[in-house]
Amino acid sequence: MNTGVEACETAVKLARRFAYQIKNIPENQAKIVFAENNFWGRSIAAVSASTDASSYKNFGPFVPNFEIIPYNNTEALENKLKNDPNICAFMVEPIQGEAGVYVPDDGYLTKVSALCKKYNVLFIADEVQTGIGRTGKLLCVDHENVKPDVVCVGKALAGGFYPVSGILSSKKLMDVFEPGSHGSTFGGNPLAASLAMTALDILVDEKLVENSEKQGPPPPQVVYQKINNRMPKLFNSAQFSRNNSLPAASNIAPQTPPP
Ligand SMILES: Cc1ncc(COP(=O)(O)O)c(C=O)c1O
Repeated sequence: MNTGVEACETAVKLARRFAYQIKNIPENQAKIVFAENNFWGRSIAAVSASTDASSYKNFGPFVPNFEIIPYNNTEALENKLKNDPNICAFMVEPIQGEAGVYVPDDGYLTKVSALCKKYNVLFIADEVQTGIGRTGKLLCVDHENVKPDVVCVGKALAGGFYPVSGILSSKKLMDVFEPGSHGSTFGGNPLAASLAMTALDILVDEKLVENSEKQGPPPPQVVYQKINNRMPKLFNSAQFSRNNSLPAASNIAPQTPPP
C-alpha cells in the first residue's frame, strides 16, 4: 500500500475477513476494539475509531462496530473479550504517538498478546509510527518479544522518503484476500517497492537498528526533561520506563496524555 492509514485499513479488512471466514462470526456482526487516543490516520474508518473530536467532528456517520477501551489497560481488554464473541481484533499502537507519546507499562504487549490468543482475537500492532528501527528494535513489539497476528508498517519503510506501507502477517491470514478483494493503483508500484527494499538494505548494512539501540534516547534526561519543563503534562509517569522508545515518536503533540 502507500500510506499508513491504508496499512491500518488493510488490517481492519483482514480482521473482518478473519471474523467471517475463519472465526465464523455471523455476517456483519464483527467488532474491532481500539484503544482510547489511538491515531491511525484520517480516512472515514480511521476517524470512526478516533476519540479525538478534532479528527471526527462533523465527519459522521461513522463505521459501526468499533469499540474503545482505555490504553494500557489489560483488565478492560479482558472484560471486553470475554463478554463478546463477536470481537475479531484488537488494534493498538505499542507506543501511542498522537496521544502525546504515551508508553505503556512493561509487560502490556505480552499481556495483550496472551489475551488475544486466549479469546481467538487478532492482535494488530499499529507500528506505522514505531516500526522499522525507530525504538531501538526493528519493531517496537520486539522489546517484549511478542509476535502480533498483524503488524502495520509505513513511514520509515522507505526511509520516510516515499509513501510505502504494508502489513506483516501469516500466509494463513493473508489468504483471506483473493485477487481483486484489496489493493490500489499505486500499491506495490516498482519505484516504491525498490525504495523500500533499498531502505531496508541500508537499515541492515549500516546497522541502524543496533545504532539506534546503542544511541538510546538522545540523552532522555536532557532532551525530554527540557520538553517536560516546557510542557509538564506531556509525558505520563511510565514515560521513562522503556529507555529506547522515545526517540521514535515524531508526533509529539502538546496534549495531556490519558490519566
Ligand atoms: C500510529 C500511526 N498509524 C497510522 C498513521 C497514519 O499514517 P499516514 O499518515 O501515512 O496515513 C500514523 C500517522 O501519523 C500513525 O502515527
